Amino acid sequence: MIYTDGKQFLLEGKNYGYAMFVNGDGFLQQLHYGGKMKREDVAYLAETYASIVPNHWINKDEAFDYLPSEYGFYAKGDYKEPTAIFERQDGASMSRLRYDSYRVEKDAPKIVGMPHVRSGDETLVITLKDDFSDIEVDLYYTVCENSDVLVRNAVIRNVGKKPVMLKRAFSFRVELANGEYQLLRLAGRWGQERIPEIAPVAHGLTRIHSLRGSSSHQTNPFMGILRKDCGEESGECYGVQLVYSGSFALTAEWSKYGALTLQGGINVTGFGWELRGGESFVTPQVLLTYSNAGMGEISREIHDFLRERIINPAYAFKRRPVVINNWEATYFDFDNEKLCAIITAAANLGIDTFVLDDGWFGNRTNDFAGLGDWFVNEEKLKGGLKKVSACCKEHGMKFGLWFEPEMVNEDSELFRAHPDWALCKEGVEPMRSRQQLVLDFTRKEVVDYIFGVVSKIIKENDISYIKWDMNRYVSECYSASLPYHRQGEVMHRYILGVYDLAQRLLDEFPDLFIEGCAGGGGRFDAGMLYYFPQIWTSDDSDGYERTKIQCGTSLCYPLSSMSCHVSVCPNHQTGRTVPFDTRGRIASLGAFGYELDVTKMTDEEKESVKAQIEAYKRTDRLILNGELYRLSNPLESNYFCMLVVSKDKSEAYVVGERGLCIPFWSDKFYPRIRLRGLDNNAFYEIEELKTVLSGGALLGAGLPLPKTGDFGSWAWHLKKVR
Ligand code: DGJ
Repeated sequence: MIYTDGKQFLLEGKNYGYAMFVNGDGFLQQLHYGGKMKREDVAYLAETYASIVPNHWINKDEAFDYLPSEYGFYAKGDYKEPTAIFERQDGASMSRLRYDSYRVEKDAPKIVGMPHVRSGDETLVITLKDDFSDIEVDLYYTVCENSDVLVRNAVIRNVGKKPVMLKRAFSFRVELANGEYQLLRLAGRWGQERIPEIAPVAHGLTRIHSLRGSSSHQTNPFMGILRKDCGEESGECYGVQLVYSGSFALTAEWSKYGALTLQGGINVTGFGWELRGGESFVTPQVLLTYSNAGMGEISREIHDFLRERIINPAYAFKRRPVVINNWEATYFDFDNEKLCAIITAAANLGIDTFVLDDGWFGNRTNDFAGLGDWFVNEEKLKGGLKKVSACCKEHGMKFGLWFEPEMVNEDSELFRAHPDWALCKEGVEPMRSRQQLVLDFTRKEVVDYIFGVVSKIIKENDISYIKWDMNRYVSECYSASLPYHRQGEVMHRYILGVYDLAQRLLDEFPDLFIEGCAGGGGRFDAGMLYYFPQIWTSDDSDGYERTKIQCGTSLCYPLSSMSCHVSVCPNHQTGRTVPFDTRGRIASLGAFGYELDVTKMTDEEKESVKAQIEAYKRTDRLILNGELYRLSNPLESNYFCMLVVSKDKSEAYVVGERGLCIPFWSDKFYPRIRLRGLDNNAFYEIEELKTVLSGGALLGAGLPLPKTGDFGSWAWHLKKVR
């Protein structure tokens, strides 16, 4: 709901209220972001804020040092980090953005060329005008009555004739009322992505960011802001999440006056964008989520929102294929016979899609050569991809193929023909990572070329699934196609090129299923999820490490978006051995598949695979639609436990894993785990325990945690019986 009289604004979602007003000097000021309030309250809040600045106050001009400005411009005593800076040709960059007008539109804005929220109830657009330049800023706010997610972004317009240089163009600013807050970030590295870290917010600036050209393994474009007493299931908190996949920044600035200022969007470092007369710059959207029931509720709200309004609707709620991927089974060492043996064995086990990973193209016998040459390596694959495709068809399986479209090896035909198509500067030794360079996706001809070759392979070989990988970051980037003063545009233009290629492929092949990947989970964000319904969560598929990665990832991404495979033991990344059934249960909490050599399995393991797939098909709808409860966090205890409950509370699926065994009496005398989200008055049958218990007992008294060996696990499937 949006209420306004043209001076005061109140936005409402399911449980939140967001209020602003135009103050006596014509500036747009934030009044409240938190629990719901009434329209009538806004006037009172406005009055009390206005009276903070008595008319005789000598420093009235410096008011924004302590008043919450809705979009922080560069001056007027606002000494916090500005939200935007626009430099004119005379070098001046001070600004004073004053309220000009507003309009309310139906639905959510459609943003061309960038991932965006696909639907919303209504959108408030407030226009601010600069006192000193020809810049206008439109602030967008999309509300949905059934959701606690508020969508924001800003569009900066140059309505004059002369170019202006945008030196910073964040998407939003929000100010939280005085209090002590904690900041939750998802930190990590390759093989250990999105591990939650919580720390009190200190005075000054705290910044989460990536300068890597992708959202990255090290960080994630999400931050949780928790009131001091907030936890998983209670307390007031906020989620701040960018719908963006490139170099980003999210900042929290705690001022001496007590308020906490949150901002973010495209990373400022190295950024610069020439905005010519008549042009607009659209900033990425941010999802702001509010809850007064803990971080668990923030996650459930975000999961619903991403599934319903961001992820490709063709796949968001569609059952996912059960995949066999050959990477860890063969690495680069395969031929048609080996692949066909894997396909045949996998088909017999009930797996429905074969994904051929890296190594099928160009001169790719290792990772030193071939990227960019998207034509089949006939020496390796005699008979070409058609033979693999035919083998899949013969066994009733779908065929998926690996690409790394953004990359090129110097040892490739593509690079030899177009050395200037890589993001590097002549005369400067490029930084190589995994022996490869990044293609200049700021150039239309490069994206056109890659689109052409990838489409041809898809068409000719009946490909229904692609795994889109990206195995290095962007560094020392320079585009030969842009003049010196526009090099600051490269990082953002690069990711726009990536989005463009993804969208064009989906337009050309509307049924194509694309799984995202970036050296494991190095680009797992809401921007990529707009195109790719699922993303390879991590190269680390160790059945214990994955509990931490999946738990962290679940903070702001739905289970269905996490691609999770059962792999061989000892695990290729950790060297650890975890029971086969544990690996299966942990992988069943996402988009399920296998990453091992099925031709080398024992008969017993093969039977287990069949049973795992059967079990997965009984619970995958819960993974797609259900509500997630994190019952035990493996980073804080010896147990991992997650529960997914169907929306109507008639069914639930619990998976748990114990870490290392410790003597029973140290394990707090057979601890119990209390379930959540069930119907208190209903009765549930628990298949594996052969018992029926009331929702009340399961919620209140809980179930004893099974005694297992190291990394032992359990799964309970609950069905409402009355
Ligand atoms: C990194 C991915 O995460 C792996 O699954 C695999 O596809 C390799 N790249 C191939 O190079």
